[in-house]
Amino acid sequence: MPEKNVAHTQWMKRAILLASLGKNTTSPNPKVGAVILDKNGNLISEGFHYRAGMPHAEAMAFNNLKKDPQGGSMYVNLEPCCHQGKTPPCVDKVISSGIREVFISIQDPDKRVSGKGIKLLKEAGIQVHLGLCEKESLELNNAFFYRNITKKAFGVFKWAMSIDGRIALENGKSKWITSEESRSLVHSFRAEFDAIIIGGNTLRKDNPILTTRGLKHPEPLRVIFTKSLDLPSKSNLWDCTQAKTIVIYDSSTANENYLKRIPKCVEIEKVSSDDPELISKILAKRGCNKVLWECGPRLATAAIKSNCIQEIITFIAPKILGGKSSMSPFGDLEFREMNEIIKLSDSQIRLIGNDICVKSALKN
Ligand SMILES: NC(=O)c1ccc[n+]([C@@H]2O[C@H](COP(=O)([O-])OP(=O)(O)OC[C@H]3O[C@@H](n4cnc5c(N)ncnc54)[C@H](OP(=O)(O)O)[C@@H]3O)[C@@H](O)[C@H]2O)c1
Repeated sequence: MPEKNVAHTQWMKRAILLASLGKNTTSPNPKVGAVILDKNGNLISEGFHYRAGMPHAEAMAFNNLKKDPQGGSMYVNLEPCCHQGKTPPCVDKVISSGIREVFISIQDPDKRVSGKGIKLLKEAGIQVHLGLCEKESLELNNAFFYRNITKKAFGVFKWAMSIDGRIALENGKSKWITSEESRSLVHSFRAEFDAIIIGGNTLRKDNPILTTRGLKHPEPLRVIFTKSLDLPSKSNLWDCTQAKTIVIYDSSTANENYLKRIPKCVEIEKVSSDDPELISKILAKRGCNKVLWECGPRLATAAIKSNCIQEIITFIAPKILGGKSSMSPFGDLEFREMNEIIKLSDSQIRLIGNDICVKSALKN
């Protein structure tokens, strides 16, 4: 690769690294980083987007300028916006700055911007190069792209199981299958998510807390999906001082008399069926890019059947639970031939203390 191209790639990788600093905070917005060089190719500013409502990466980079950017260049991992949102359009700033060349990894899937930002830059006589480090940029913002394109939240299903593939004893007890190290890792990776979803039965059996234990502020939204509404009047999830909770119930089967058990601080939403896709769509509409399904096998089976799961994280503990009808992570997925089964890809394996953590992608 010619030296000049290597330098372009390195600057874009720096923009991507800056973008990743907004990892747990930018949602519903994408993670974006920007780098500005002067006309001699020296770094004169950089910035990243931290939170929705705060300056975009390009605006932050312009605010941090150490030198006149006239005749210089910019590297940004997403097409600069051209619409007035919570902050002014970035394209106007780029044009008025006198920057001559802009490198963009990827076009914004948001219809208000998609291609229009690039067109305006070109019309203003700026050279635009699209596609540098596209793969890395797509990876960084996969959930943002997924939500914008499908109008559903990017779903990750996480479970913990014993080495014999059980997620609970026959009586439903499952505390604790994995080690303390794995469980505290789960608290920290919850910070990547905008919402955590369980079914009514996990609430009744486990009474979970479902927070990052203060690692993220605000905490991810806690979502309970129930067909019956038969939820207990006492639950850790009813304590809304730690995190917000929403109960979504299927009005075609639920007994609405049970609503009185749920405290006023909990949001309630009704849907017309038990299709988990409805949850995914509701959460996407609320701006959730990435959601964590921490449910048991029945809701997980329904969620995977309706394409709500795009990634799987499995913790495997070196323990044996046994039991003829102990629960496994999924119920009947109705596969009758081996060519129908789900094949996972891009697996990454880590050792967490004595447990194994496998992260895999699901193509659907
Ligand atoms: N080891 C692990 O990683 C792990 C993780 C989570 C849970 N668990 C264990 O799993 C057990 C609970 O399993 P579960 O499968 O009953 O879990 P669940 O997470 O409670 O899911 C089932 C519940 O979801 C609600 N639901 C809404 N729409 C549904 C649909 N389309 N299909 C199925 N359910 C739907 C129903 O709630 P209503 O009954 O309120 O109507 C249903 O009972 C517990 O013993 C818990 O300890 C283990």
